[in-house]
Amino acid sequence: MRAKHWRRTKWTPIGVAALLAASAAVALPPLLLTPAAQAADPVVVLSHGFEDGTTQGWGGRSAETVATSTAAARTGSRSLLVSGRTASWQGPARSLLGSVEKGTRYTLSAWVRLAAGEPAAQARLSVERRTAGTPSYDQATGNVNVTATGWTQLTGSYTLAHDVDFLTAYVETVSGTSAIHIDDFTMSYVPATPIQTNIPAVKAVLAPYFPIGTAISPTTIIGQHAQLLNRHFSSVTPGNSLKWDATEPAAGSFRFTDADAAVNFAVANGLEIRGHTLIWHQQTPSWVFADAAGNPMTATAANKALLLSRIESHVSTVVGRYRGKIKYWDVANEVIDENQADGLRRSRWFEIAGLDFLRTAFRAARAADPAARLFINDYNTNVPAKRDKLFNLVSALRAEGVPIDGVGHQMHVNIDWPSVAETEAMITKFVPLGVDQQVTEMDISIYTNTGESFPTPPRDRLIKQGYRYRDLMGVFKRHADAISSVTLWGLADDDTWLDSFPVARKDAPLLFDTELQAKPAYWGIVDPSRIEGAASASPTASAAPTASASPTGNTSPTAGASPGPTNTGQAPPPCQVRYTVTGQWQGGFQGEVRVTALAPVNGWTLRWTFPNGQRLDQLWNGTATQTGAAVAVTNASWNRSIPANSTATVGFLASWAGTNGPAADITLNNAACQRLP
Ligand code: XIL
Repeated sequence: MRAKHWRRTKWTPIGVAALLAASAAVALPPLLLTPAAQAADPVVVLSHGFEDGTTQGWGGRSAETVATSTAAARTGSRSLLVSGRTASWQGPARSLLGSVEKGTRYTLSAWVRLAAGEPAAQARLSVERRTAGTPSYDQATGNVNVTATGWTQLTGSYTLAHDVDFLTAYVETVSGTSAIHIDDFTMSYVPATPIQTNIPAVKAVLAPYFPIGTAISPTTIIGQHAQLLNRHFSSVTPGNSLKWDATEPAAGSFRFTDADAAVNFAVANGLEIRGHTLIWHQQTPSWVFADAAGNPMTATAANKALLLSRIESHVSTVVGRYRGKIKYWDVANEVIDENQADGLRRSRWFEIAGLDFLRTAFRAARAADPAARLFINDYNTNVPAKRDKLFNLVSALRAEGVPIDGVGHQMHVNIDWPSVAETEAMITKFVPLGVDQQVTEMDISIYTNTGESFPTPPRDRLIKQGYRYRDLMGVFKRHADAISSVTLWGLADDDTWLDSFPVARKDAPLLFDTELQAKPAYWGIVDPSRIEGAASASPTASAAPTASASPTGNTSPTAGASPGPTNTGQAPPPCQVRYTVTGQWQGGFQGEVRVTALAPVNGWTLRWTFPNGQRLDQLWNGTATQTGAAVAVTNASWNRSIPANSTATVGFLASWAGTNGPAADITLNNAACQRLP
């Protein structure tokens, strides 16, 4: 079902109007600290109407005839006519070199009409780029029906992510060689809104629990996207660049341009890397399943041996190249089919090699980088039938000695599904196996069925999504001892695979909007009391806030070498507290206070004393006041109750001068807490 778009950099299958509407729609009323910026007006870089009788820089991709024409015009009296095409991929082309800046998203639009008498066809707007002479082809639009009787607009977006020595936009057809008129071509961009620098970093808020990652594309690691990425995330997963079609498009011919760029970026910025993915039934070139004569493989012993040797060579080469750099690998992706009695997807891998494709892939990966942690990754692992089949497969293979270290839960979910309880059961199911677990591709669609489509994400959905992020992240935080990382499938809503899956429509599943500004989804993770309307109508988490060990496992009353409780009475301290400076820079720092209640607390005030004139600038997960050196923080509505042996965490930004020492005299409801190091 999943669309295969491996060549494309990015396209957005919606019209300009919808695009602009989607941008405008994210201007929610100002949140407490972060007024969402309004999108600016588009700047038009190129505009060609051919009214001056010249081709305005347009020509044919090959030997087509290109001239202005008065036979048809969408506006004015002329268009551009291209005739004499000899292949469907030939058509009117214009260089964009010098007009396009790397990392800026441009909207391209062209009006198309077939010459009189030509049969209906499908057309699209594409981009050819060349680096050192090697061409790549990106689609700026999907395929659109065009006719000889009216004008049709082709529009989409394009972001250049590579250094190029050749760059053209062109119109092509899916098939046929009809003569084509084009008119009113424009290329424009919306000046970028600066990213917010006055809001907490997601990675700092989640640092006590796990690294937080995002999927990246070549355009995520440049410009403002890279700034946003580095500010909030501590891990990355290249979304497409490590898949088989990208790394070994032809037998033995490896291509690592995009993968190297992603890995180098991550290493340079101190980000963890998840490698995704070695073996999948999608985005694998057909040559992998072709027999020695080039025909589709049948299940013979010879073909099985050939396929396993291809796996061995591919996995050794790709994993070996990034040995010591890529910490986790999704060795196998989506191999479960819960509708099969044996639970195994009937992929080409399985049909030809049985379970040996998994055994070979995991062993080859282990041999190529013994330190890398190896994962089996799947979607819908919250669905009990699927979860159980995955559990059975992993336990059977591990019992045989196949080196599977962890289970990846993709978590492509939506604002209604699945329940918190089901998500919790997904994690707890695998705990007895002793495997690592990761959330690998989380996004929360605003849609609950394929019939829905909003040009603009409705506000109530975005708010609901904020609470969903709060609740689902809450599950992962409670089980942080079993989960070594959580990754979201994208940085911001301007680039999400859900715009074209399962149907083409604008989705908004991530933490930042199309202008890279924080959404309620962001606040759901960082400080749910700041979700718009939280004070009046906060749905309570459907999770029973069961007490569980803290992620660091240090909350038991006896745990931890303490520098000594600060209370002097006979009774043991009713709370434990850990004070951490999570980041520090000249004059400012970010910190957090984690307090574990040893008996249930309903409503709380946390107090401490700041040394050396430290001043609080901003605090989340509670409401703070500071009088002199004394800080008092009261609970937010959603973290009012702390069950026994559970933890509440507040985070803050503050200023300092002189020496940036730790806070003193930390109390919960005026009782001194045992201080953990
Ligand atoms: C998606 C990418 O995000 C898209 O750009 C691509 O066109 C298709 O694949 N499950 C997975 C990911 O394991 O590899 C998929 O990524 C999303 C679903």
